[in-house]
Amino acid sequence: MANSVSQRDSFSGKYGFIAAAAGSAIGLGNIWKFPYITGVYGGSAFIIVYLICILLIGLPVMLSEISVGRRAQKGVFGAYKTLAPGTPWFFSGYMGIAAAFLILSFYGVVAGWTMEYVVKALAGSFTGKNPDQISAMFGDFIGQTARPIFWQVGFMALTCFIVIAGIKNGIEKYSKILMPVLLVILLMLCLRSVTLDGASKGFEFLFKPDFSKLSGEAILAAMGHAFFSLSLGMGTLVTYGSYLKKTESLAPLAGQITIADTVIALLAGIAIFPAVFAFGIEPAAGPGLVFVTLPNVFAQMPLGNIFCILFFSLLAIAALTSSISILEVVVAHLVEDFKVSRKTATLMMTLVITLFGIPSALSFGSLSDLSIFGLNFFDLADHIASNFLLPLGGLCISLFVGWKMARKDVADELSNSGAVKIAYLPVFLFLARIVAPIAIATVFLHGLKII
Ligand code: PFF
Repeated sequence: MANSVSQRDSFSGKYGFIAAAAGSAIGLGNIWKFPYITGVYGGSAFIIVYLICILLIGLPVMLSEISVGRRAQKGVFGAYKTLAPGTPWFFSGYMGIAAAFLILSFYGVVAGWTMEYVVKALAGSFTGKNPDQISAMFGDFIGQTARPIFWQVGFMALTCFIVIAGIKNGIEKYSKILMPVLLVILLMLCLRSVTLDGASKGFEFLFKPDFSKLSGEAILAAMGHAFFSLSLGMGTLVTYGSYLKKTESLAPLAGQITIADTVIALLAGIAIFPAVFAFGIEPAAGPGLVFVTLPNVFAQMPLGNIFCILFFSLLAIAALTSSISILEVVVAHLVEDFKVSRKTATLMMTLVITLFGIPSALSFGSLSDLSIFGLNFFDLADHIASNFLLPLGGLCISLFVGWKMARKDVADELSNSGAVKIAYLPVFLFLARIVAPIAIATVFLHGLKII
């Protein structure tokens, strides 16, 4: 399949790319993780820092990734090797691949939870239950051994199946239909949530900033999440960019993906926090927030069970369009750089990543006492990848585009060899050369309590 430049798959066009890249960006990070870390780090001040990170760091890093991928026509490791042969830049490609490995190991676990919840909703398990019972159901489920692993394996098998088939037709078509549906459902949930009694406290929590709650750790988390949510720092968009036609203008694409991802995250916050406060649930409920709060909201809605089924199905599907993109990073490396067949590479990596994810699946049950640097296995994998490897990967790519690549090559790629105007080039280069690297390095060192 796509193991040489001439046979390389490409997206059918601009919309195909946007759907797939937005499909990668919009996932559990937006609907599951963003609300809960916002809760943990105290609400609106965290969101403001997050938005600043998106603008000053996320956007230039995204544009850098897409340009590097399209220029090199290779995944992350091969792209560095092609554009900077004989230099150590390819190490950064390895970091990206390691991040993909770690992220998918725990991402598959949470995606598995969403599948269990589809089944629970189909069985009407939430109907007539009070908030305490719904909360206990979640704790009971993730504390088990076989069931979370069963669903993790099921989800990873689905991911594997699609990646084996190649990225073009499946992902593209499927993302184009499912992403708008996700938006419609989310808007309906927002409507229900904001019309609950006591919803206004949720709005205050989301939009009335209290900067006194902001710690260095919160700023590091905001930046780590900007990378995670936009699928940056590990080469997903390098890889997807390598499948993009040379005629597409890159900056508008990066802008559209960023806006779509941010709007969906904010909508998820609006769907969840007013309901959290209306039901008197603790906003800092952690990873269980979506799995406990939303079933409560549905239990109070007319036709709530149908919404519940739809919501968790779409969450699972949003997770799938993201997990495919993560697996693709690792698979593209084996296919391009080791000439392994796509099928063998995909099967092998799925197996290894799934096995590695099992301790994460058990982190809330039989391995809950296992603590490494004060974190369970699940949180440790997330922490190392999101707060360490992704920002470092982002730092490398922006330095690469800002300082290593020749300015004329960057301009050539962004302008499609002079076909489109790139008046923004000086601003982009300033962000990629100076602002993003300094911001990433500062936040990073501050978060690690080094400065
Ligand atoms: N962006 C995805 C989400 O928000 O769920 C997760 C993700 C995908 C992270 C791809 C990193 C990545 F490279």
